[in-house]
Amino acid sequence: MNNPSAIRLEHLYALRARGEKIACLTVYDAGFTRVLEAAGVELFIIGDSLGMVIKGYDSTEPVSMDDMVDHAADVARVGTQAYRIVDLPAGSYASPEQALVNAQRLVGEGGAHMVKLEGGVTMAEIVRTLTADGIPVCGHVGLLPQSVRQYGGYKVQGRDPESAIAILQDARALEAAGAGMLVIECVPSALAEEITAAVSIPTIGIGAGPACDGQVLVLYDMLGITAGRQPRFVKDFLAGQGSIAAAVRAYIEAVKSGRYPAPEHCY
Ligand code: KIV
Repeated sequence: MNNPSAIRLEHLYALRARGEKIACLTVYDAGFTRVLEAAGVELFIIGDSLGMVIKGYDSTEPVSMDDMVDHAADVARVGTQAYRIVDLPAGSYASPEQALVNAQRLVGEGGAHMVKLEGGVTMAEIVRTLTADGIPVCGHVGLLPQSVRQYGGYKVQGRDPESAIAILQDARALEAAGAGMLVIECVPSALAEEITAAVSIPTIGIGAGPACDGQVLVLYDMLGITAGRQPRFVKDFLAGQGSIAAAVRAYIEAVKSGRYPAPEHCY
């Protein structure tokens, strides 16, 4: 990374340390990358949610490594400021060896600064393998969209004490294995608060309440252009704004000030 003003991992750690919330959005292409960086987004996730919002699949499952590399490279080609996390898609990290080859592709061809994978305790060996190779890893706990068929739908996780403890253990195992950041998806706010206190790496919440160190939304959801009924944590930031740039600035301001997520967005 040659740009001296580019956000690096240590900047995100410093934001956590001083209690300043991290504003993160998903992004998948060059045009939106320019708008989001000009508005001041610090952290991008080039997510496999592109399967739904870009490609029209009904889940993230069919997304391929080539899809992820293509979109990550589209973002990296013009991105100069934000730190970029890129998803390893479903089926691309079934073994440490496979994970390493694919993570190296996301970094080398896709310009990823960090790769993200879903799962907790069972991912520890893979996280160790990638970090030993110098590839920073973001964990993803709570609701795991790549496993949504196992849950029978997009459901809030960690509502009962046993599953809450399991998710907390997942988070601890990922950090111990070397993960540098953690996405927490769709869990009760109290559990995300407990996880954030238990780990020393930044937590980025989506449907996980206000205590996380940062927030992420799927870009198309926060612009109100995703079809169908939205989960309660989604807020349309374009409503009442004159432009996409203004909507993104409103999102950043709401995250930084702690006004988003509000109680009505939480579980
Ligand atoms: O795929 C994705 O967009 C994600 C974020 C919403 C966290 O994983």
